[in-house]
Amino acid sequence: MIRQCDTREFEMIYSIINDAAQAYKGVIPVHCWKEPYMSKGELRREMDEGVVFWGYEEDGELVGVIGIQHLQDVTLIRHAYVRTAKRNRGIGGKLLSYLREQTTRPTLIGTWADAAWAIRFYEKHGFRLVSLGEKDRLLRKYWSVPERQIENSVVLADQKWFDARQPEGNGA
Ligand SMILES: CC(C)(COP(=O)(O)OP(=O)(O)OC[C@H]1O[C@@H](n2cnc3c(N)ncnc32)[C@H](O)[C@@H]1OP(=O)(O)O)[C@@H](O)C(=O)NCCC(=O)NCCS
Repeated sequence: MIRQCDTREFEMIYSIINDAAQAYKGVIPVHCWKEPYMSKGELRREMDEGVVFWGYEEDGELVGVIGIQHLQDVTLIRHAYVRTAKRNRGIGGKLLSYLREQTTRPTLIGTWADAAWAIRFYEKHGFRLVSLGEKDRLLRKYWSVPERQIENSVVLADQKWFDARQPEGNGA
């Protein structure tokens, strides 16, 4: 079952994110890794800034979450995490498809450049990598992430974003 998470589920969301984020350990650059991967303070700030989490519930328990944030003229898909033990069973895919129906705006996703599985997952769902120049610009415009994270991240966009964007370098 897919449903919007309740703010009272903060601890569960926090636990799922930090369990699933173990996938990054030893994969992303050492200086980008920390434990816990996302602190309670960071998660709280993200929610306060408008990230709404949706969850996949199985046998009465949340097992995966994905955040969605409507920002300026786009929608961002943020923090997609499925518990390690529940991965590769279609849960992330169902959540992502569901969230995509929640918006008519061009949609963007940022992830680590080294998270090849995540890039493949999003590409399977119709997203495409934007150019390196575009990703730096987009990460600075819509995300508030440290410079070292920008350097090690990629951005994927849906067809709507590619259709709407201004060609690079035209000064518009
Ligand atoms: C990325 C993530 C959210 C995807 O969630 P998921 O539930 O594993 O996703 P799905 O099961 O829908 O799809 C993942 C793979 O499983 C495959 N799959 C889906 N259903 C399947 C099934 N019933 N049996 C076998 N494989 C299946 C998919 O084809 C896909 O394969 P591919 O990546 O090789 O194309 C999850 O892997 C995760 O939490 N990863 C760690 C954190 C992360 O990388 N987050 C994303 C960055 S923001």
